[in-house]
Amino acid sequence: MAEGSANIGFGGNGADYPVRSGSVGPDVIDIRKLYANTGAFTFDPGFTSTASCESAITYIDGDQGILLHRGYPIDQLAEQSSFMEVAYLLLNSELPTAAELDKFSYTITRHTMLHEQLSTFYRGFRRDAHPMAIMCGVVGALSAFYHDSTDIADPRQRMIASHRLIAKMPTIAAMAYKYSIGQPFVYPKNDLSYTGNFLRMTFGVPAEEYEVDPIVEAAMDKIFILHADHEQNASTSTVRLAGSSGANPFACIAAGIACLWGPAHGGANEAALNMLREIGHVDRIPEYIARAKNKDDPFRLMGFGHRVYKNYDPRAKVLGAAATEVLARMGKSDPILDVARKLEEIALTDPYFVEKKLYPNVDFYSGVILSAIGFPTTMFTALFALARTVGWVAQWNEMIADPEQKIGRPRQLYTGPTQRDYIPVDRR
Ligand code: SDX
Repeated sequence: MAEGSANIGFGGNGADYPVRSGSVGPDVIDIRKLYANTGAFTFDPGFTSTASCESAITYIDGDQGILLHRGYPIDQLAEQSSFMEVAYLLLNSELPTAAELDKFSYTITRHTMLHEQLSTFYRGFRRDAHPMAIMCGVVGALSAFYHDSTDIADPRQRMIASHRLIAKMPTIAAMAYKYSIGQPFVYPKNDLSYTGNFLRMTFGVPAEEYEVDPIVEAAMDKIFILHADHEQNASTSTVRLAGSSGANPFACIAAGIACLWGPAHGGANEAALNMLREIGHVDRIPEYIARAKNKDDPFRLMGFGHRVYKNYDPRAKVLGAAATEVLARMGKSDPILDVARKLEEIALTDPYFVEKKLYPNVDFYSGVILSAIGFPTTMFTALFALARTVGWVAQWNEMIADPEQKIGRPRQLYTGPTQRDYIPVDRR
């Protein structure tokens, strides 16, 4: 829907470029013809001013701290929905009826088992392998087992692969945890919820029945909802770029897992709790605030700041409240939560953080809850990947179905040597 045009002049000639408006949010200037018209590229290394695609899945207003999934506010979904329902919404654009949700949950549940040979794949890893290393490897290896759902031109195969990925991530993540602690893998149980199944596969043992704690199940499901999708973040953009070449969905999601692992992205939840534990006591907070402000110190407050949110991350708001509630309902306390609260209070009044609009993000409080549930910090990003698989798969499907989709191939500003002749080694 063209909304007028923008005139961009360069090298003495100007041209009009279409301006398009979405349903909400900033307009875009369609510059696809800029290079042909001017011989110049745009330059935007971190994509701070670049829309890479058209999407109808998730909308973020960073200034207002708003996050919508297919139009529904994240706080309403977190409080009233379930992860399975949000997965259906992200994949299918609308909230499901009760019958649609039952059918979707039934389908997902019956894809939760892994090909038995994949369990031997784990034995190739050292016991102390980081779960994200295992997730990258095992998810990528799925394309060696599920050839009947790798033809991306076939919508039916795309949906089967999507269901398989959503269904098997909990099993793969739980197995990564079991392998790291030397316990046997626990098979899925079809009469449990998606999240209850994951908790049993993670914390259950063959030696006794495992009772899913409804408080923990509800907290875990809420955490999955809050991590499900987030517009064109680094890992989602990785999945889209990998998918734009026609790579199979399992390989694309493995690429997304690899990108998410970074401490600037999904790895921040593990880094944030490690940071809070290193601070250890509220008396030591000023020392770390000073380090975060010191340009000569690479230290950053992990779980703080965001490329898009220049206001409070709405997910952090929900998680901050949930941390207090879940620990209380579990009858647990964690001094680290006091450190987190005090750190937030001090940072939000410090001119450095106020001027740079640095607020807690989704990774600041999640670790306190995950730790209380019993996960080691090394599992935190694997849990983020488990939940984000729903968003990655939804975004991948949207990209494949986009008639304007083509392989992503950015250009560059070249600053290396201009052409020169080869000099044989005996003359150098
Ligand atoms: C996620 O994109 C998404 O949507 C991601 C995500 C999702 O759901 O997919 O929301 C999940 O990745 C959340 C972010 C998790 N990462 C962290 O918590 C790591 C700590 N945060 C930062 O590294 C940083 O804030 C980023 C990476 C999140 C954002 O970086 P930007 O947008 O590139 O901003 P920047 O690095 O240019 O920082 C702007 C300024 C800089 O100072 P100046 O150079 O202008 O003087 O703010 C400073 C930075 O030094 N700054 C921080 C800081 N974050 C930014 N200073 C101290 N502590 C921090 N955490």
